[in-house]
Amino acid sequence: MKINQKRFQEHMETLAEIGRIGETGVCRLAHSKEDREAVDVVRIWMEEAGLTTHIDGFGNLVGRIEGQAKDLPILLLGSHIDSQPYGGRFDGTAGALGAIEVVHTMKDEGVTPNRTIEVICFADEEGSRFNKGVFGVRGIIGQLEDGELKRKDKNGITRLEALREFGVEPDLSQSPVYKQGDIEAFLELHIEQGPVLESKNKPVGIVSAISGPIWLTVTLEGFAGHAGSVPMNLRQDAFLGASIITKEFNELVRKEGTPNTVGTIGSVQTFPNSRNIIPEKVEFTIDLRDIDLDARTRLERKLYEIIEKTSKELHLEYSISEDTRSDPRYCADWIKDIMKEQDEKLGYQSPTLMSGPFHDALFMSYISDYGMIFVRCEKGISHNPLEFAEMEDMQKGVELLYHTAVKIAQS
Ligand code: CO
Repeated sequence: MKINQKRFQEHMETLAEIGRIGETGVCRLAHSKEDREAVDVVRIWMEEAGLTTHIDGFGNLVGRIEGQAKDLPILLLGSHIDSQPYGGRFDGTAGALGAIEVVHTMKDEGVTPNRTIEVICFADEEGSRFNKGVFGVRGIIGQLEDGELKRKDKNGITRLEALREFGVEPDLSQSPVYKQGDIEAFLELHIEQGPVLESKNKPVGIVSAISGPIWLTVTLEGFAGHAGSVPMNLRQDAFLGASIITKEFNELVRKEGTPNTVGTIGSVQTFPNSRNIIPEKVEFTIDLRDIDLDARTRLERKLYEIIEKTSKELHLEYSISEDTRSDPRYCADWIKDIMKEQDEKLGYQSPTLMSGPFHDALFMSYISDYGMIFVRCEKGISHNPLEFAEMEDMQKGVELLYHTAVKIAQS
């Protein structure tokens, strides 16, 4: 292998200690103290790799090495180092540290890039803290929305306050940093977060496309009342509504979705959340995704019918807000071709597969061609301390990333 396996392993192990929970978990919420600590450490590794670094007005950590041909569109590599509240050691970090390893290996090998290369650790990919993620990547491509800095975490801290605490004066006027044509390719390595590579007994995969998610927040409002005194037929129970919608939505996706459609209701808040009061208000999230846009649209319409019908039957008021809507996005054929060619030379025989989860790359795809490499992870578990990927598999993925990146950087 060209990459320095030992150095990459040490970086992975060191980063896993920052915000560690239990033996194998990680909690590095976006813009938190732990996130900042991680950024400071990773920044040193970037500089050791020969990159000039800065933290931008969205909280992204960016490293840059000038190419010989300064007018060529740049090569961008990276991922994220923030985590879910009860997350694992590999999601995001494998790709972020893998990207740094790629540039460091070029330096070790005496490869001077023809194209300028930037490595980026995107701020708040995960979205769990402010219930809206991929903040950093949306910042650089100009997809931020009104009120982004006013979103609050569960302790009432706004993103503006959190970013200041993190040590960044938010500057949304920097957005967009890049426009169409500025970037030749964006490459991201990531753990698969699914069971496909494991089932095929392959360490590495080449991604074909990322399926598009819709994120909705649904609020149902009924009427509170004493759980002991209000007769069943007079109730307006918002939680009952949420339960029926959950069940019917699940059946809808199972029966009428494609093999790639998935639907989840993952976060539920009830008010007043008391054992002897009928729930007056329930707020819950819906996540619906597919690689087939028509199929997803059809199911989304039926989902609205379920919400409408259920609310009517139970005499509830409802509202739906849309937090995210992304179309499925396909990886560039020319990048996949380079990956396949390099993969063959390395003898991995990596399969091609699609990504159900979205990544920073999904957003980069709106302004740049992109390619992704997946690394096998145990049982497809992620967003959990049990998340596990073999070091050897990650090293193989980074090796493929290296050869792909060199090819593009020198073109
Ligand atoms: Co990730």
